[in-house]
Formats: sequence, structure tokens, C-alpha cells
Amino acid sequence: MKHWQLEASGEHLVATLDVVGSSANMLSHEVLQELDELLAELEQRSASGLIIRSGKPGGFIVGADVREFGQVHDAPQAAELARAGQRVFNRLAALPVPTVALIHGYCLGGGLELALACRFRVARDDDSTRLGLPEVRLGIHPGFAGTVRLPPLIGALPALDLMLSGRTLGSRQAQKLGLVDEAVPERHLLDAARAHVAKRRRRKAPWLRRLPGWWPLRAFVYRRVLRQLQKKVNADHYPAPYRILQLRKMRANQEQEAISLGELLVSRTSRNLVHVFLLGEELKRRGRTHAHDIERVHVIGAGAMGGDIATWAAYKGFSVSLQDQTAELVARALKRAHAFFQKRLKEPRAVQQAMDRLMPDVSGNGVRRADLIIEAIVEDVGIKQAVFRNIEQQAPASAVLASNTSSIPLEELAGTLRDPSRLVGLHFFNPVAKMQLVEVVHGLQSAPAALERACAYAVAIDKLPLRVKSSPGFLVNRILMPYLMEAMTMVEEGVAISAIDRAATDFGMPMGPIELADTVGLDICLSVARELAGPLGVAVPDKLSAMVEQGQLGKKSGRGFYRYDAKGRARRDTRVRPNDIPITERLVLRVLNEAMACLREGVVQDADAIDAGMVYGTGFAPYLGGPMRYVESMGETGISHSLYRLSEEYGERFTPDAGWSQADLLVRASSI
Ligand code: NAI
Repeated sequence: MKHWQLEASGEHLVATLDVVGSSANMLSHEVLQELDELLAELEQRSASGLIIRSGKPGGFIVGADVREFGQVHDAPQAAELARAGQRVFNRLAALPVPTVALIHGYCLGGGLELALACRFRVARDDDSTRLGLPEVRLGIHPGFAGTVRLPPLIGALPALDLMLSGRTLGSRQAQKLGLVDEAVPERHLLDAARAHVAKRRRRKAPWLRRLPGWWPLRAFVYRRVLRQLQKKVNADHYPAPYRILQLRKMRANQEQEAISLGELLVSRTSRNLVHVFLLGEELKRRGRTHAHDIERVHVIGAGAMGGDIATWAAYKGFSVSLQDQTAELVARALKRAHAFFQKRLKEPRAVQQAMDRLMPDVSGNGVRRADLIIEAIVEDVGIKQAVFRNIEQQAPASAVLASNTSSIPLEELAGTLRDPSRLVGLHFFNPVAKMQLVEVVHGLQSAPAALERACAYAVAIDKLPLRVKSSPGFLVNRILMPYLMEAMTMVEEGVAISAIDRAATDFGMPMGPIELADTVGLDICLSVARELAGPLGVAVPDKLSAMVEQGQLGKKSGRGFYRYDAKGRARRDTRVRPNDIPITERLVLRVLNEAMACLREGVVQDADAIDAGMVYGTGFAPYLGGPMRYVESMGETGISHSLYRLSEEYGERFTPDAGWSQADLLVRASSI
């Protein structure tokens, strides 16, 4: 066999999965077929038990091979694939001898379903072991009998929670829930598995957890979960969670699971979510062209961004020094970092270790030892230039210099350096811990090696690096700005702010443009808009300048377009007035037109990069797969006609970009 290996260990057998040619184990069609053959062989052999484990140091099984989803053409074919997987796992579950899944690292999706088909599960007790069913994030649900096997094991509600959220559990949490039978340190793993082989009895969820699945309570419980779901998820955009709920409510069997999965797998939503997932993988792949060689990071500026950039780096295991003008400013950032580590790491020892990696450094000594220096001080060319001149004199010759500037052309900052090729942009998004994207900006003089090292660093801290050309607003802010300005223009025209935000969220944006502007801060919006106004011809609405002058800066000042209560919640007018102006069309077409301009100008490499940037940098409707994917589904001609129509009605800003008539621009470089 290519991927599986079977060996005897005392009286029982050990099956090891080590997928050839891949760093992680995935359940491709071939891998499942081999497992089937292996089980057939096992049925003929006499052994007292079977242990299934992974030969990959990184983990057990990360799930199905999503690249194979693209080869599925219709729902019946997809359902048949699910049935095939179910048959193999049923064969495993029906073995007369005890079976144990020995889990370390990632055990996700189909990987967990395989483990669920075993009689017992033993997991390595450490931070890197994560178990979960994240299928919902790809617009589908488990299809290898996971929706059927999980609830009796851990209880109906916890099972629903895992499948609906797609979240992962650590091994201890999984043990508490009954998902794994035992969580033990690495050195006891095999012994624990052997001990389970000797056991016969399968566990069941305690009766209290099974109670919500009892029929008199079931209807009530599902109604409640449904109401919560409806508040959070648009069923037209994301049908999978509703299917999960329905399957549980009707106590669906494996066949119903397979049919439902078949329909979802070929839906537009799932196709686009898989596209988004693969875009993320592609950004990581593009970012890994250089071996990552950064160990020490120095961050200058401990404000909103710098403090969080340093915190994140320390959280990810880097040794970081943090500099600002006064010890108080650094101390404030360290306090925030401590709260963050406590929330994320929980264990006092881990929190302490993370704090030890984050060094306050008011005098800036860290510059002399750093491999990467990130500047995140006030957005002022003169001050930044002075700081870079100073850094250059002290930093090791091999260190990469990076700026987090959102609007200053890199060339202006590099101009004062003796060696401008060392400077790149590392543009993080706010809030740093939440936003996955980092724009890696190349100026005219940036050296390829410096860019590659910066990209490799971004991947190493679990961010997605997107290479962008140094041009006004780079990619994300440049596309976002016309969208925000259009929303504000509508406010000036008298459209209700809640109507505008509602139109955007109904389209699939995570937050409306008005609320987004308030959240970012109207002063910041104004300064970025002014910066882009000249080069891109974006008009800045008078209302925005007036509000900033009056100190109405958005959420942080308690008042922006919305008023905010003491807890920072917006007071919304829920009686959205119907309006006959095409709100959604105006907002979305501004995004698409600017995205096309970026593509034509080569701000990023290709259409995939635009989609990745907008989905991972702004949350642009993931179920649509990104702006360019949306354009493909609507047809470029239709989009440019709509733009033309709007330009006649609302003015030049809607004039179709020249790129719309260059058909080759939308051809994608990769096959995602
Ligand atoms: P901030 O005002 O919160 O922090 C700036 C910090 O830099 C302050 O603590 C200040 O004391 C310090 N500083 C100023 N001059 C210094 C010097 N010579 N040496 C050491 N420290 C100095 O500003 P924020 O929002 O963190 O922005 C920083 C940079 O990040 C700017 O370039 C901004 O354009 C960029 N950025 C901001 C985003 C945001 O949402 N706030 C998003 C992405 C980038």
C-alpha cells in the first residue's frame, strides 16, 4: 500500500497513515480506498485489536482533500462519495475487535469522523492537539456519518455546537466532553491505546447530556437553537448550519446525511467558500518562497497597532522588543498584552513565558540585535524618515526594515536610507489578532530577498501575506475607501444610515460601511480619504470633514454617524425606511470598479490576490468568494453596463474602469 502501513505489535495490529507527497494526512479517494482494502485484510486476520495512528509528526488527519471537491460535478455524484466514505468507516466500526484512534495534532473533519468510527479515542495531551468538525466553514457538514455518530457519544447539544461553530477543541476539553476517552502525555500514548484495546465497553454520553435529544424536549431545544442561528446567519447565503440543525431534528440516518451533503457540496456557497479556503492556502504557499529566518523582532511605536503587532509576535513565539517615547506608553501596551495572553493562553506559566518574550525597550537597544524591525509610529513622513535614518545606523546589516504605514509611499521613506532596498511595508490590519491579512508592500527599490523574508515572517506568525505594489492605499484601503465614501454620500443625500448598513449586511458584508467607518474612527477615515483623494480622484464628503471637526470621531468618542452607549453599542434605528435608490448596487459597484482598476494597474499579481485581499482583509461576503469571483458569476459585461448606467445618473465616479474591456485581466494565474 502507498499510504497505509499495517504492522503487528504484540497481539494487536497498528495501522499507520502517512500520505505520500503531502506534509499532512488528508482523506483523498485513494487513501479511503486503501483503508477499505486494509480492513478487508484485517477481517481475515486474527488479532485482539487495532490501533490507527498517523505517521506525520504534525498531526493525525486534517480532513478530506478539498481539492477533490472541484472534480465533483453534481449532487448525486457528491452523495455517492459520501456513501463510499461511510461504507469504509462502517466497516471499521463493525470490526469485532476493539479499535483505538491514537490522536495527536490536528484531527479534523473526516479525520475526526474516522476516529469516531473507532471504539475508543486516545489523544496526546498538549497544546497542538485540536479536534473538530470545521466542515461548516466550507459550506457543508460532515458526510462520513459524523452527524450520526457524534451526538450519542457527547450529547445532542454539544454535538450541535461543535458542528455549527466549526470550532476545535483541545485534548482536555475533548476528554471532558467525552469526545476522547483519555488525554495523555506523548510518552504514555501507546500504552494508553493498548490499555483501551483490552477494554470492550464503548462509552455513551451521560443521560443528562442526552436529555435534549429526548423527543418531548427535542422540538423546544431545536426551536431555541434555530432562533439563535437566525440572528447570526443568513440562511440564503449559508444554508449548511440550517441543514445540520434539520438533520439532528429529524434524527437523520447516514443516507439522509449523504444526500444532504451532496446538495451542499455542489452549491454556489460551498464552491466559493472552498475557493476562499484555497486562496488562503495559496497566499501561504506564495509566502513560503524563502526559508523563514527571523528570530528577533523589534517594534517601534507601542500605540494601537505597534503594541498589538508586538504582542502577536510574542504570542507566536518570537522574541520581541517594544519601543516608544516613554516607559508609560510601553507599559500600557504590555498591560494590554498581558490581558491578551491571559485570555488566549489561560495557563499562568504560558502567560508568563509569553510576557518574558516581550521586552520593554524605551531606549531602543533591541534594534542592534533584531532580524526584523517594524516601525508603527504616527503617520507622519518627516518623523518616520528620521526614525528610519536612526534605525539604519544601528541595525545589523542583515536586518529587514519594515513600515506599517497605511498611506505613505514606501519610496518616500526609503529615500533617506543609504540602502533603500532593505525597506518593505508590512501593513497589518486592525485589530491585529483578528485580521488574518498582512499586505507586504514592495516599493520600487525593495529587494526581492527582503520581501520574501517579510512574507515568510508573516506566514510564520500565522498571517496571510499578500504582496502589493507601493501605491496609494495599497490594495485593501484603496478598494474600501470609495465604498465608504459612497455610503457617506448617500447619508448626505438623506438616506437613513441603518438602511445603508442593512443593505450591505444583507449583501453579505460582516458590518455595514457606516458602522465600519465609525469603528475605524472617522478621523482615520478622513486622513486616509484625503491621502487617496488626490491620486485616485476620490471625493471626500463634506459631512465627514465636518463631523471630525466637531469631535464626532465614531465609536471611540461615543458619537459618529451612530450614537454609542457606555458599553460601545450603537443605537440603531430598526425601522429601516424603504428607499428607492439602489443602495447595494452603488456600494458594491464602487468596490468592483476599484478592484478592476487595481488589477489593471498591477497593484497585485492577479484576480485571486484581489479576492484573497478583500475576503481576508475586510470580510467581503465570503459566500461570494471575493469581488472578482463575483464578477465572474455576474459576467463582466453586465457589470460594466451597470456602471455605465450609474455613471449617467450619479456621476463620473461610476465611469467603468478601462480594465473592463481587457478580457485577459480576469484570467486567473492559479487554478483555484
Ligand atoms: P498610535 O497613535 O496609536 O501610536 C503611535 C505610537 O507611536 C504612539 O504611542 C507614539 O508615542 C509612538 N511614537 C511616535 N513617534 C515615535 C518615535 N519617534 N519613536 C518611538 N515611538 C514613537 O497610532 P497607530 O494607530 O498605532 O498607527 C501607527 C501606524 O500604523 C501608522 O503608520 C498608521 O498609519 C498605521 N496603521 C494604523 C491602523 C489603524 O487602524 N490605526 C491600521 C494599519 C496601519
